[in-house]
Amino acid sequence: MYRTHNCGELNLSNRGEKVILSGWVHKSRDLGGMTFIDLRDRYGKTQLVFNMESDPGLCAAARKLGREYVICAEGTVEERSNKNPKMTTGDIEIIVNKLTVLNASKIPPFTIEEETDGGDELRMKYRYLDLRREPVKQNIIHRHRIAQEVRKYLDSQRFLEIETPVLIKSTPEGARDFVVPSRVHKGSFYALPQSPQTFKQLLMISGFDRYFQIVKCFRDEDLRADRQPEFTQIDCEMSFVEQDDVLNAFEGLARHLFKTIKDYDLEDSFPRISYDRAISEYGTDKPDLRFGMKINELSDEVKGRGFNVFDKSEYIGGIVAPGCSEYSRKDLDGLADFVRRPQIGASGLVYLKFNRDGSFRSSVDKFFKGDDLKQWAEKMSAEPGDLMLILAGDRLHTLAALSELRLEMATRLGLRKTGKFKPLWIVDFPLLEWDEETQRYYAMHHPFTSPREEDLDILETDPGRVRANAYDLVINGVEIGGGSIRIHDADIQKRMFRALGFTGEQARSQFGFLMDAFSYGAPPHGGIAFGFDRWVSLFAGSETIRDFIAFPKNNAGRDVMIDSPSEISEEQLKELGLQIIKKGI
Ligand code: AMO
Repeated sequence: MYRTHNCGELNLSNRGEKVILSGWVHKSRDLGGMTFIDLRDRYGKTQLVFNMESDPGLCAAARKLGREYVICAEGTVEERSNKNPKMTTGDIEIIVNKLTVLNASKIPPFTIEEETDGGDELRMKYRYLDLRREPVKQNIIHRHRIAQEVRKYLDSQRFLEIETPVLIKSTPEGARDFVVPSRVHKGSFYALPQSPQTFKQLLMISGFDRYFQIVKCFRDEDLRADRQPEFTQIDCEMSFVEQDDVLNAFEGLARHLFKTIKDYDLEDSFPRISYDRAISEYGTDKPDLRFGMKINELSDEVKGRGFNVFDKSEYIGGIVAPGCSEYSRKDLDGLADFVRRPQIGASGLVYLKFNRDGSFRSSVDKFFKGDDLKQWAEKMSAEPGDLMLILAGDRLHTLAALSELRLEMATRLGLRKTGKFKPLWIVDFPLLEWDEETQRYYAMHHPFTSPREEDLDILETDPGRVRANAYDLVINGVEIGGGSIRIHDADIQKRMFRALGFTGEQARSQFGFLMDAFSYGAPPHGGIAFGFDRWVSLFAGSETIRDFIAFPKNNAGRDVMIDSPSEISEEQLKELGLQIIKKGI
Protein backbone atom coordinates (compact mmCIF):
# COMPACT_ATOMS: atom_id res chain seq x y z
CA MET A 1 0.00 0.00 0.00
CA TYR A 2 1.38 3.39 -0.96
CA ARG A 3 -0.86 5.67 1.07
CA THR A 4 -3.63 5.75 3.62
CA HIS A 5 -3.93 9.55 3.42
CA ASN A 6 -2.70 12.37 1.24
CA CYS A 7 -0.23 15.06 2.28
CA GLY A 8 -2.86 17.74 2.79
CA GLU A 9 -5.43 16.17 5.06
CA LEU A 10 -4.01 15.13 8.42
CA ASN A 11 -4.70 17.23 11.52
CA LEU A 12 -4.96 16.92 15.28
CA SER A 13 -8.02 14.68 15.00
CA ASN A 14 -5.69 12.03 13.54
CA ARG A 15 -3.30 12.16 16.51
CA GLY A 16 -1.94 8.72 17.36
CA GLU A 17 -3.03 7.12 14.06
CA LYS A 18 -0.69 4.95 12.07
CA VAL A 19 -0.53 6.35 8.52
CA ILE A 20 1.26 5.82 5.23
CA LEU A 21 2.04 8.78 2.98
CA SER A 22 3.69 8.94 -0.43
CA GLY A 23 4.98 11.95 -2.30
CA TRP A 24 7.95 14.09 -3.24
CA VAL A 25 10.69 15.35 -0.92
CA HIS A 26 10.03 19.07 -0.97
CA LYS A 27 12.58 20.18 1.57
CA SER A 28 14.71 18.57 4.22
CA ARG A 29 16.40 20.02 7.31
CA ASP A 30 18.84 18.41 9.72
CA LEU A 31 18.65 19.87 13.18
CA GLY A 32 20.95 18.18 15.67
CA GLY A 33 19.59 14.75 16.29
CA MET A 34 16.49 15.22 14.13
CA THR A 35 15.81 15.30 10.42
CA PHE A 36 12.65 16.98 9.14
CA ILE A 37 11.27 16.42 5.66
CA ASP A 38 8.39 18.24 4.06
CA LEU A 39 6.64 15.62 1.96
CA ARG A 40 4.59 17.08 -0.89
CA ASP A 41 1.82 15.80 -3.13
CA ARG A 42 -1.02 17.43 -5.06
CA TYR A 43 -2.96 18.05 -1.85
CA GLY A 44 -0.35 19.73 0.31
CA LYS A 45 2.69 19.14 2.47
CA THR A 46 3.19 17.14 5.65
CA GLN A 47 6.21 17.20 7.96
CA LEU A 48 8.00 13.90 8.49
CA VAL A 49 10.30 13.49 11.48
CA PHE A 50 13.26 11.12 11.83
CA ASN A 51 15.00 10.80 15.17
CA MET A 52 18.74 9.96 15.23
CA GLU A 53 18.56 8.72 18.81
CA SER A 54 15.62 6.35 18.53
CA ASP A 55 16.36 5.09 14.99
CA PRO A 56 19.83 6.09 13.73
CA GLY A 57 19.63 3.85 10.62
CA LEU A 58 16.36 5.34 9.42
CA CYS A 59 17.51 8.88 10.17
CA ALA A 60 20.73 8.33 8.21
CA ALA A 61 18.65 7.03 5.27
CA ALA A 62 16.43 10.14 5.46
CA ARG A 63 19.49 12.39 5.38
CA LYS A 64 20.49 10.86 2.06
CA LEU A 65 17.23 11.82 0.35
CA GLY A 66 17.54 14.55 -2.27
CA ARG A 67 14.95 17.11 -3.30
CA GLU A 68 12.17 15.64 -5.45
CA TYR A 69 12.92 12.03 -4.49
CA VAL A 70 9.68 10.01 -4.44
CA ILE A 71 9.26 8.24 -1.13
CA CYS A 72 6.75 6.29 0.92
CA ALA A 73 6.77 6.90 4.69
CA GLU A 74 4.98 4.98 7.39
CA GLY A 75 4.59 6.37 10.90
CA THR A 76 2.44 7.83 13.64
CA VAL A 77 0.66 11.20 13.63
CA GLU A 78 1.83 13.37 16.56
CA GLU A 79 1.00 16.89 17.68
CA ARG A 80 3.75 19.33 16.73
CA SER A 81 5.38 21.33 19.48
CA ASN A 82 6.34 24.01 16.98
CA LYS A 83 3.10 24.50 15.02
CA ASN A 84 3.07 26.11 11.57
CA PRO A 85 -0.19 28.03 11.02
CA LYS A 86 0.70 28.58 7.33
CA MET A 87 0.41 24.85 6.56
CA THR A 88 -2.99 23.11 6.64
CA THR A 89 -1.22 20.16 8.26
CA GLY A 90 0.89 22.51 10.42
CA ASP A 91 -0.47 21.20 13.74
CA ILE A 92 0.89 17.70 13.26
CA GLU A 93 3.92 15.74 12.10
CA ILE A 94 4.59 12.09 11.32
CA ILE A 95 7.12 10.22 13.43
CA VAL A 96 8.40 7.86 10.75
CA ASN A 97 9.25 4.24 11.45
CA LYS A 98 9.53 2.96 7.88
CA LEU A 99 10.86 4.66 4.78
CA THR A 100 10.91 3.37 1.19
CA VAL A 101 12.54 5.22 -1.66
CA LEU A 102 10.19 4.75 -4.62
CA ASN A 103 12.33 6.73 -7.03
CA ALA A 104 15.39 8.96 -6.99
CA SER A 105 15.49 12.33 -8.73
CA LYS A 106 18.18 14.32 -10.43
CA ILE A 107 18.61 17.83 -9.03
CA PRO A 108 15.81 19.83 -10.74
CA PRO A 109 16.98 22.59 -13.10
CA PHE A 110 15.10 25.19 -11.05
CA THR A 111 13.66 25.31 -7.55
CA ILE A 112 10.19 23.83 -7.14
CA GLU A 113 8.93 26.71 -5.00
CA GLU A 114 6.22 29.38 -5.33
CA GLU A 115 8.90 31.86 -6.41
CA THR A 116 11.29 30.00 -8.63
CA ASP A 117 14.72 30.91 -9.97
CA GLY A 118 13.86 29.30 -13.34
CA GLY A 119 13.52 31.54 -16.40
CA ASP A 120 10.57 31.21 -18.76
CA GLU A 121 12.30 29.09 -21.39
CA LEU A 122 13.71 26.66 -18.81
CA ARG A 123 10.36 26.28 -17.07
CA MET A 124 8.69 25.55 -20.43
CA LYS A 125 11.32 22.95 -21.31
CA TYR A 126 10.65 21.19 -18.00
CA ARG A 127 6.97 22.08 -17.84
CA TYR A 128 6.17 18.84 -15.96
CA LEU A 129 8.37 20.15 -13.11
CA ASP A 130 6.94 23.66 -13.39
CA LEU A 131 3.49 22.11 -12.92
CA ARG A 132 4.64 20.81 -9.52
CA ARG A 133 4.93 24.42 -8.32
CA GLU A 134 2.02 25.55 -6.17
CA PRO A 135 0.82 28.59 -8.22
CA VAL A 136 1.02 26.73 -11.53
CA LYS A 137 -0.73 23.70 -10.07
CA GLN A 138 -3.46 25.94 -8.67
CA ASN A 139 -4.00 27.48 -12.13
CA ILE A 140 -4.65 24.04 -13.59
CA ILE A 141 -7.00 23.08 -10.74
CA HIS A 142 -8.80 26.41 -11.19
CA ARG A 143 -9.24 25.60 -14.90
CA HIS A 144 -10.65 22.17 -14.05
CA ARG A 145 -13.20 23.69 -11.65
CA ILE A 146 -14.44 26.15 -14.25
CA ALA A 147 -14.76 23.39 -16.86
CA GLN A 148 -16.84 21.33 -14.42
CA GLU A 149 -19.11 24.30 -13.63
CA VAL A 150 -19.59 24.97 -17.35
CA ARG A 151 -20.65 21.35 -17.87
CA LYS A 152 -22.91 21.38 -14.81
CA TYR A 153 -24.68 24.57 -15.83
CA LEU A 154 -25.11 23.77 -19.51
CA ASP A 155 -26.31 20.26 -18.70
CA SER A 156 -28.90 21.77 -16.32
CA GLN A 157 -30.07 23.91 -19.24
CA ARG A 158 -30.49 20.83 -21.48
CA PHE A 159 -27.37 21.41 -23.62
CA LEU A 160 -25.87 18.19 -24.99
CA GLU A 161 -22.08 17.79 -25.16
CA ILE A 162 -21.30 16.44 -28.62
CA GLU A 163 -17.85 15.96 -30.13
CA THR A 164 -17.05 17.10 -33.65
CA PRO A 165 -14.16 16.01 -35.90
CA VAL A 166 -10.64 17.38 -35.67
CA LEU A 167 -9.52 16.39 -39.15
CA ILE A 168 -11.66 18.59 -41.37
CA LYS A 169 -11.44 20.62 -44.56
CA SER A 170 -9.41 23.74 -45.20
CA THR A 171 -11.47 26.87 -45.88
CA PRO A 172 -10.25 30.26 -47.05
CA GLU A 173 -12.04 32.40 -44.45
CA GLY A 174 -10.78 33.47 -41.02
CA ALA A 175 -7.21 32.90 -39.85
CA ARG A 176 -4.77 30.56 -41.59
CA ASP A 177 -5.45 26.83 -41.17
CA PHE A 178 -3.04 24.26 -39.81
CA VAL A 179 -3.09 21.50 -42.39
CA VAL A 180 -2.36 17.78 -42.09
CA PRO A 181 -1.24 15.81 -45.15
CA SER A 182 -3.08 12.59 -45.92
CA ARG A 183 -1.00 9.44 -46.57
CA VAL A 184 -3.85 7.51 -48.13
CA HIS A 185 -4.92 10.37 -50.38
CA LYS A 186 -1.56 11.72 -51.46
CA GLY A 187 -1.52 15.39 -52.29
CA SER A 188 -4.66 15.99 -50.23
CA PHE A 189 -4.81 17.65 -46.85
CA TYR A 190 -7.03 17.78 -43.84
CA ALA A 191 -7.25 21.00 -41.89
CA LEU A 192 -7.53 21.34 -38.12
CA PRO A 193 -10.69 23.24 -37.16
CA GLN A 194 -10.39 26.94 -36.35
CA SER A 195 -13.69 26.28 -34.59
CA PRO A 196 -16.43 23.64 -34.98
CA GLN A 197 -18.65 26.30 -36.59
CA THR A 198 -20.12 24.37 -39.52
CA PHE A 199 -20.51 21.15 -37.51
CA LYS A 200 -22.50 22.79 -34.76
CA GLN A 201 -24.80 24.27 -37.38
CA LEU A 202 -25.21 20.82 -38.93
CA LEU A 203 -26.10 19.48 -35.48
CA MET A 204 -28.93 22.03 -35.34
CA ILE A 205 -30.17 20.76 -38.69
CA SER A 206 -30.00 17.25 -37.15
CA GLY A 207 -32.35 18.42 -34.41
CA PHE A 208 -30.00 18.56 -31.37
CA ASP A 209 -31.42 21.92 -30.43
CA ARG A 210 -28.92 22.76 -27.68
CA TYR A 211 -25.28 21.77 -28.20
CA PHE A 212 -22.06 22.56 -26.40
CA GLN A 213 -18.51 21.33 -26.45
CA ILE A 214 -15.33 22.29 -24.58
CA VAL A 215 -13.16 21.95 -27.61
CA LYS A 216 -9.66 22.54 -28.97
CA CYS A 217 -9.43 25.01 -31.87
CA PHE A 218 -6.42 25.69 -34.04
CA ARG A 219 -5.43 28.93 -35.74
CA ASP A 220 -2.19 29.74 -37.44
CA GLU A 221 -2.06 33.40 -36.47
CA ASP A 222 0.36 35.82 -34.81
CA LEU A 223 0.57 35.14 -31.11
CA ARG A 224 -0.04 37.52 -28.21
CA ALA A 225 -0.51 37.14 -24.47
CA ASP A 226 -4.16 36.23 -25.03
CA ARG A 227 -3.67 34.07 -28.13
CA GLN A 228 -2.35 30.55 -28.59
CA PRO A 229 -2.20 28.57 -31.83
CA GLU A 230 -4.24 25.87 -30.14
CA PHE A 231 -6.72 27.12 -27.61
CA THR A 232 -9.98 25.96 -26.10
CA GLN A 233 -13.50 27.20 -26.71
CA ILE A 234 -16.72 26.64 -24.86
CA ASP A 235 -18.62 26.27 -28.10
CA CYS A 236 -22.42 26.49 -28.04
CA GLU A 237 -25.35 26.52 -30.45
CA MET A 238 -29.14 26.73 -30.00
CA SER A 239 -32.14 26.28 -32.31
CA PHE A 240 -35.32 28.33 -32.48
CA VAL A 241 -33.68 31.36 -30.93
CA GLU A 242 -33.36 35.05 -31.63
CA GLN A 243 -30.46 37.21 -30.53
CA ASP A 244 -32.03 38.09 -27.18
CA ASP A 245 -32.59 34.40 -26.35
CA VAL A 246 -28.90 33.66 -26.88
CA LEU A 247 -27.69 36.68 -24.92
CA ASN A 248 -30.01 35.88 -22.02
CA ALA A 249 -29.03 32.20 -21.98
CA PHE A 250 -25.32 33.01 -21.79
CA GLU A 251 -25.68 35.81 -19.30
CA GLY A 252 -27.00 32.93 -17.20
CA LEU A 253 -23.80 30.94 -17.77
CA ALA A 254 -21.64 33.98 -16.97
CA ARG A 255 -23.58 34.65 -13.79
CA HIS A 256 -23.33 31.00 -12.73
CA LEU A 257 -19.55 30.93 -13.26
CA PHE A 258 -18.97 34.20 -11.45
CA LYS A 259 -21.11 33.04 -8.53
CA THR A 260 -19.69 29.54 -8.16
CA ILE A 261 -16.05 30.30 -8.95
CA LYS A 262 -15.63 33.80 -7.55
CA ASP A 263 -18.68 34.23 -5.32
CA TYR A 264 -19.27 37.42 -7.32
CA ASP A 265 -22.73 38.71 -8.23
CA LEU A 266 -22.81 40.16 -11.73
CA GLU A 267 -25.34 42.85 -12.55
CA ASP A 268 -28.81 41.64 -13.56
CA SER A 269 -28.68 42.51 -17.19
CA PHE A 270 -25.46 43.26 -19.04
CA PRO A 271 -25.34 46.55 -20.95
CA ARG A 272 -25.66 46.18 -24.73
CA ILE A 273 -23.68 48.69 -26.75
CA SER A 274 -23.65 48.92 -30.52
CA TYR A 275 -20.38 48.44 -32.34
CA ASP A 276 -20.54 52.00 -33.72
CA ARG A 277 -21.12 53.47 -30.28
CA ALA A 278 -18.31 51.41 -28.77
CA ILE A 279 -15.90 52.67 -31.42
CA SER A 280 -16.90 56.31 -31.06
CA GLU A 281 -17.04 56.33 -27.24
CA TYR A 282 -14.20 53.96 -26.38
CA GLY A 283 -12.19 53.62 -29.62
CA THR A 284 -12.46 49.82 -29.48
CA ASP A 285 -15.01 47.03 -29.75
CA LYS A 286 -13.80 45.63 -26.42
CA PRO A 287 -14.09 48.50 -23.98
CA ASP A 288 -13.11 48.18 -20.34
CA LEU A 289 -16.13 49.53 -18.45
CA ARG A 290 -14.59 49.38 -14.99
CA PHE A 291 -14.08 53.12 -15.40
CA GLY A 292 -15.62 55.96 -17.45
CA MET A 293 -13.25 58.27 -19.29
CA LYS A 294 -15.25 58.14 -22.52
CA ILE A 295 -13.83 59.63 -25.70
CA ASN A 296 -15.33 62.93 -26.85
CA GLU A 297 -15.12 64.17 -30.40
CA LEU A 298 -14.02 67.80 -30.77
CA SER A 299 -13.74 68.04 -34.56
CA ASP A 300 -16.49 70.68 -34.90
CA GLU A 301 -15.18 72.79 -32.05
CA VAL A 302 -11.54 72.97 -33.05
CA LYS A 303 -11.32 73.01 -36.83
CA GLY A 304 -10.87 76.17 -38.90
CA ARG A 305 -8.88 78.15 -36.34
CA GLY A 306 -5.59 78.15 -38.16
CA PHE A 307 -4.00 75.28 -36.25
CA ASN A 308 -2.76 73.18 -39.10
CA VAL A 309 -2.63 69.85 -37.23
CA PHE A 310 -6.33 70.08 -36.42
CA ASP A 311 -7.37 71.65 -39.71
CA LYS A 312 -5.96 68.85 -41.82
CA SER A 313 -7.22 66.03 -39.58
CA GLU A 314 -10.33 64.03 -40.33
CA TYR A 315 -11.00 63.56 -36.62
CA ILE A 316 -10.04 65.28 -33.37
CA GLY A 317 -11.04 63.81 -30.03
CA GLY A 318 -9.90 63.42 -26.49
CA ILE A 319 -10.34 62.01 -23.03
CA VAL A 320 -10.44 63.58 -19.59
CA ALA A 321 -7.96 62.32 -17.03
CA PRO A 322 -9.62 63.19 -13.72
CA GLY A 323 -7.51 65.05 -11.17
CA CYS A 324 -4.43 65.22 -13.39
CA SER A 325 -4.23 68.99 -14.04
CA GLU A 326 -1.01 69.14 -12.04
CA TYR A 327 0.84 66.81 -14.40
CA SER A 328 4.38 68.12 -14.92
CA ARG A 329 6.10 68.83 -18.22
CA LYS A 330 7.93 65.52 -17.78
CA ASP A 331 4.66 63.58 -17.23
CA LEU A 332 3.16 65.14 -20.35
CA ASP A 333 6.27 64.43 -22.41
CA GLY A 334 6.05 60.83 -21.19
CA LEU A 335 2.44 60.61 -22.41
CA ALA A 336 3.38 62.16 -25.75
CA ASP A 337 6.10 59.50 -26.12
CA PHE A 338 3.55 56.85 -25.22
CA VAL A 339 1.10 57.85 -27.98
CA ARG A 340 3.95 58.14 -30.51
CA ARG A 341 5.01 54.49 -30.01
CA PRO A 342 4.77 52.69 -33.34
CA GLN A 343 2.09 50.30 -32.07
CA ILE A 344 -0.09 53.31 -31.11
CA GLY A 345 0.95 55.54 -33.97
CA ALA A 346 -0.34 59.02 -33.02
CA SER A 347 1.76 61.90 -34.33
CA GLY A 348 1.56 63.95 -31.16
CA LEU A 349 -0.50 64.90 -28.14
CA VAL A 350 -2.33 68.12 -27.35
CA TYR A 351 -3.14 68.76 -23.71
CA LEU A 352 -5.46 71.13 -21.92
CA LYS A 353 -5.15 71.59 -18.18
CA PHE A 354 -8.29 72.77 -16.37
CA ASN A 355 -6.54 74.21 -13.33
CA ARG A 356 -8.11 74.00 -9.91
CA ASP A 357 -8.52 77.83 -9.88
CA GLY A 358 -10.67 77.57 -13.03
CA SER A 359 -8.01 78.84 -15.46
CA PHE A 360 -6.80 76.91 -18.51
CA ARG A 361 -3.36 76.05 -19.77
CA SER A 362 -2.87 74.23 -23.05
CA SER A 363 -0.17 73.22 -25.47
CA VAL A 364 -2.02 75.16 -28.19
CA ASP A 365 -2.45 78.48 -26.37
CA LYS A 366 -1.23 80.25 -29.51
CA PHE A 367 -4.33 79.20 -31.47
CA PHE A 368 -7.04 78.86 -28.85
CA LYS A 369 -7.98 81.29 -26.11
CA GLY A 370 -10.04 81.16 -22.92
CA ASP A 371 -13.52 80.88 -24.42
CA ASP A 372 -12.47 78.19 -26.88
CA LEU A 373 -10.84 76.17 -24.16
CA LYS A 374 -13.88 76.56 -21.93
CA GLN A 375 -16.02 75.23 -24.75
CA TRP A 376 -13.78 72.15 -25.07
CA ALA A 377 -13.99 71.54 -21.35
CA GLU A 378 -17.78 71.78 -21.49
CA LYS A 379 -17.99 69.39 -24.43
CA MET A 380 -15.78 66.93 -22.57
CA SER A 381 -17.52 67.46 -19.18
CA ALA A 382 -14.18 68.29 -17.58
CA GLU A 383 -14.00 69.77 -14.09
CA PRO A 384 -11.41 71.98 -12.45
CA GLY A 385 -8.42 69.80 -11.60
CA ASP A 386 -8.77 67.65 -14.74
CA LEU A 387 -6.42 67.15 -17.64
CA MET A 388 -7.75 66.82 -21.20
CA LEU A 389 -5.67 64.79 -23.63
CA ILE A 390 -6.42 65.29 -27.31
CA LEU A 391 -5.32 63.43 -30.43
CA ALA A 392 -5.91 64.19 -34.11
CA GLY A 393 -5.61 62.25 -37.35
CA ASP A 394 -7.71 59.93 -39.45
CA ARG A 395 -10.80 58.80 -37.58
CA LEU A 396 -10.29 55.11 -36.94
CA HIS A 397 -6.57 55.28 -36.12
CA THR A 398 -7.09 58.23 -33.80
CA LEU A 399 -9.91 56.49 -31.98
CA ALA A 400 -7.77 53.37 -31.62
CA ALA A 401 -4.91 55.47 -30.22
CA LEU A 402 -7.31 57.20 -27.81
CA SER A 403 -8.46 53.78 -26.66
CA GLU A 404 -4.85 52.87 -25.77
CA LEU A 405 -4.35 56.22 -24.06
CA ARG A 406 -7.56 55.70 -22.08
CA LEU A 407 -6.32 52.33 -20.83
CA GLU A 408 -2.88 53.73 -20.03
CA MET A 409 -4.33 56.62 -18.00
CA ALA A 410 -6.71 54.27 -16.19
CA THR A 411 -3.79 52.00 -15.31
CA ARG A 412 -1.79 54.98 -14.02
CA LEU A 413 -4.77 56.14 -11.98
CA GLY A 414 -5.43 52.67 -10.55
CA LEU A 415 -8.89 52.45 -12.14
CA ARG A 416 -8.50 48.96 -13.63
CA LYS A 417 -9.17 47.23 -10.36
CA THR A 418 -8.71 43.48 -10.13
CA GLY A 419 -11.66 41.92 -8.34
CA LYS A 420 -14.15 44.18 -10.15
CA PHE A 421 -15.88 42.76 -13.24
CA LYS A 422 -17.81 44.73 -15.85
CA PRO A 423 -19.43 42.63 -18.58
CA LEU A 424 -21.15 44.02 -21.66
CA TRP A 425 -22.41 42.84 -25.00
CA ILE A 426 -21.25 44.53 -28.18
CA VAL A 427 -24.07 44.21 -30.74
CA ASP A 428 -24.87 45.42 -34.28
CA PHE A 429 -21.48 44.61 -35.75
CA PRO A 430 -21.00 45.38 -39.43
CA LEU A 431 -21.55 42.18 -41.43
CA LEU A 432 -18.57 42.77 -43.71
CA GLU A 433 -15.17 44.39 -43.49
CA TRP A 434 -13.41 45.89 -46.53
CA ASP A 435 -9.79 44.87 -47.02
CA GLU A 436 -7.71 47.41 -48.96
CA GLU A 437 -4.92 44.97 -49.76
CA THR A 438 -7.05 42.28 -51.43
CA GLN A 439 -9.75 44.77 -52.49
CA ARG A 440 -12.60 42.63 -51.25
CA TYR A 441 -15.00 42.24 -48.36
CA TYR A 442 -14.40 39.74 -45.57
CA ALA A 443 -16.98 38.50 -43.09
CA MET A 444 -16.38 40.28 -39.81
CA HIS A 445 -17.40 37.19 -37.81
CA HIS A 446 -17.74 34.39 -40.36
CA PRO A 447 -19.68 33.80 -43.58
CA PHE A 448 -22.60 32.09 -41.79
CA THR A 449 -23.57 35.16 -39.75
CA SER A 450 -26.98 36.49 -40.71
CA PRO A 451 -27.48 40.07 -41.87
CA ARG A 452 -30.04 42.15 -40.01
CA GLU A 453 -33.31 41.62 -41.82
CA GLU A 454 -33.90 45.33 -42.33
CA ASP A 455 -30.48 45.65 -44.04
CA LEU A 456 -30.93 42.71 -46.43
CA ASP A 457 -31.98 44.86 -49.38
CA ILE A 458 -28.64 46.73 -49.40
CA LEU A 459 -26.50 43.57 -49.28
CA GLU A 460 -25.66 43.94 -52.98
CA THR A 461 -25.78 47.74 -53.33
CA ASP A 462 -24.07 48.94 -50.14
CA PRO A 463 -22.56 45.88 -48.45
CA GLY A 464 -20.35 47.90 -46.08
CA ARG A 465 -23.41 49.31 -44.33
CA VAL A 466 -25.14 46.00 -43.63
CA ARG A 467 -25.28 45.19 -39.94
CA ALA A 468 -25.07 41.65 -38.60
CA ASN A 469 -26.99 39.75 -35.96
CA ALA A 470 -23.68 39.28 -34.21
CA TYR A 471 -22.49 39.89 -30.67
CA ASP A 472 -19.39 39.70 -28.50
CA LEU A 473 -19.22 39.31 -24.75
CA VAL A 474 -16.57 41.63 -23.33
CA ILE A 475 -15.48 41.64 -19.70
CA ASN A 476 -12.95 44.19 -18.37
CA GLY A 477 -11.70 44.91 -21.88
CA VAL A 478 -11.23 41.24 -22.83
CA GLU A 479 -13.20 39.68 -25.68
CA ILE A 480 -14.40 36.60 -23.85
CA GLY A 481 -16.73 35.31 -26.53
CA GLY A 482 -18.47 35.99 -29.78
CA GLY A 483 -21.29 34.58 -31.85
CA SER A 484 -24.24 35.31 -34.05
CA ILE A 485 -27.63 34.29 -35.31
CA ARG A 486 -26.89 32.26 -38.43
CA ILE A 487 -28.19 32.31 -41.91
CA HIS A 488 -30.53 29.32 -42.25
CA ASP A 489 -31.79 30.05 -45.71
CA ALA A 490 -29.83 28.69 -48.69
CA ASP A 491 -30.64 31.74 -50.87
CA ILE A 492 -29.37 34.26 -48.33
CA GLN A 493 -26.29 32.12 -47.79
CA LYS A 494 -25.65 32.23 -51.57
CA ARG A 495 -26.02 36.03 -51.57
CA MET A 496 -23.58 36.24 -48.65
CA PHE A 497 -21.00 34.14 -50.50
CA ARG A 498 -21.45 36.39 -53.53
CA ALA A 499 -20.90 39.51 -51.39
CA LEU A 500 -17.68 37.87 -50.16
CA GLY A 501 -16.52 37.51 -53.77
CA PHE A 502 -16.97 33.72 -54.05
CA THR A 503 -18.07 32.40 -57.42
CA GLY A 504 -20.95 29.92 -57.26
CA GLU A 505 -18.46 27.15 -57.97
CA GLN A 506 -16.06 28.21 -55.19
CA ALA A 507 -18.92 28.43 -52.69
CA ARG A 508 -20.10 24.96 -53.77
CA SER A 509 -16.67 23.37 -53.48
CA GLN A 510 -15.98 24.91 -50.04
CA PHE A 511 -19.38 24.83 -48.40
CA GLY A 512 -21.60 22.72 -50.66
CA PHE A 513 -22.35 20.32 -47.79
CA LEU A 514 -23.72 23.16 -45.69
CA MET A 515 -25.77 24.66 -48.48
CA ASP A 516 -27.20 21.22 -49.21
CA ALA A 517 -28.01 20.77 -45.52
CA PHE A 518 -29.86 24.09 -45.52
CA SER A 519 -32.19 22.67 -48.14
CA TYR A 520 -33.38 19.88 -45.82
CA GLY A 521 -35.23 21.86 -43.18
CA ALA A 522 -32.72 23.97 -41.27
CA PRO A 523 -34.23 25.51 -38.12
CA PRO A 524 -33.50 29.13 -37.23
CA HIS A 525 -30.42 28.92 -35.02
CA GLY A 526 -27.61 30.87 -33.42
CA GLY A 527 -24.82 30.45 -30.94
CA ILE A 528 -21.65 31.65 -29.38
CA ALA A 529 -18.16 30.49 -28.50
CA PHE A 530 -16.22 31.60 -25.45
CA GLY A 531 -12.44 31.65 -25.20
CA PHE A 532 -12.12 29.20 -22.31
CA ASP A 533 -8.45 30.02 -21.67
CA ARG A 534 -9.32 33.72 -21.56
CA TRP A 535 -12.17 33.16 -19.18
CA VAL A 536 -9.95 31.12 -16.84
CA SER A 537 -7.19 33.75 -16.84
CA LEU A 538 -9.68 36.60 -16.40
CA PHE A 539 -10.98 34.98 -13.23
CA ALA A 540 -7.45 34.67 -11.93
CA GLY A 541 -6.74 38.35 -12.72
CA SER A 542 -4.13 37.58 -15.38
CA GLU A 543 -3.83 38.48 -19.06
CA THR A 544 -1.53 35.61 -19.93
CA ILE A 545 -3.52 32.57 -21.00
CA ARG A 546 -0.34 30.46 -21.24
CA ASP A 547 -0.18 30.22 -17.43
CA PHE A 548 -3.51 28.39 -17.42
CA ILE A 549 -2.71 25.78 -20.06
CA ALA A 550 -0.95 22.62 -18.88
CA PHE A 551 1.33 22.38 -21.91
CA PRO A 552 1.26 25.69 -23.79
CA LYS A 553 3.27 26.88 -26.79
CA ASN A 554 5.79 29.68 -26.33
CA ASN A 555 5.54 33.10 -27.99
CA ALA A 556 7.01 31.71 -31.18
CA GLY A 557 4.40 28.94 -31.32
CA ARG A 558 6.92 26.27 -30.27
CA ASP A 559 6.62 23.55 -27.68
CA VAL A 560 10.19 23.61 -26.38
CA MET A 561 9.61 20.58 -24.16
CA ILE A 562 8.82 18.15 -26.97
CA ASP A 563 10.67 20.28 -29.55
CA SER A 564 7.78 20.86 -31.90
CA PRO A 565 7.30 21.74 -34.69
CA SER A 566 10.15 19.58 -35.97
CA GLU A 567 11.29 18.00 -39.19
CA ILE A 568 9.96 14.58 -40.19
CA SER A 569 11.93 11.72 -41.73
CA GLU A 570 12.51 11.18 -45.44
CA GLU A 571 10.37 8.00 -45.24
CA GLN A 572 7.46 9.90 -43.75
CA LEU A 573 7.75 12.57 -46.42
CA LYS A 574 7.83 9.92 -49.12
CA GLU A 575 4.84 8.11 -47.70
CA LEU A 576 2.93 11.38 -47.70
CA GLY A 577 4.09 12.25 -51.21
CA LEU A 578 5.71 15.46 -49.95
CA GLN A 579 8.96 17.12 -50.81
CA ILE A 580 10.52 19.93 -48.79
CA ILE A 581 11.78 22.86 -50.79
CA LYS A 582 14.61 24.15 -48.63
CA LYS A 583 14.79 27.85 -47.90
CA GLY A 584 16.55 29.78 -50.63
CA ILE A 585 15.90 27.21 -53.38
P1 AMO B 1 -14.33 33.68 -32.53
O1 AMO B 1 -13.37 33.57 -33.64
O2 AMO B 1 -14.76 35.07 -32.11
O3 AMO B 1 -15.70 32.95 -32.87
O4 AMO B 1 -13.77 32.92 -31.27
C1 AMO B 1 -14.50 32.84 -30.07
C2 AMO B 1 -13.63 33.21 -28.88
O5 AMO B 1 -12.47 32.39 -28.83
C3 AMO B 1 -11.38 33.11 -28.24
N1 AMO B 1 -10.21 33.04 -29.16
C4 AMO B 1 -8.96 32.71 -28.77
N2 AMO B 1 -8.46 32.42 -27.57
C5 AMO B 1 -7.15 32.12 -27.50
N3 AMO B 1 -6.31 32.06 -28.57
C6 AMO B 1 -6.77 32.35 -29.80
N4 AMO B 1 -5.95 32.27 -30.86
C7 AMO B 1 -8.16 32.70 -29.94
N5 AMO B 1 -8.95 33.04 -30.99
C8 AMO B 1 -10.19 33.24 -30.50
C9 AMO B 1 -11.88 34.53 -28.02
C10 AMO B 1 -13.07 34.62 -28.94
O6 AMO B 1 -14.02 35.54 -28.47
N6 AMO B 1 -17.22 30.01 -34.45
C11 AMO B 1 -17.21 31.35 -33.86
C12 AMO B 1 -18.17 31.44 -32.71
C13 AMO B 1 -19.62 31.48 -33.10
O7 AMO B 1 -19.98 32.26 -34.01
O8 AMO B 1 -20.41 30.78 -32.45
C14 AMO B 1 -15.81 31.67 -33.37
O9 AMO B 1 -14.92 30.86 -33.34
O10 AMO B 1 -12.27 34.67 -26.67
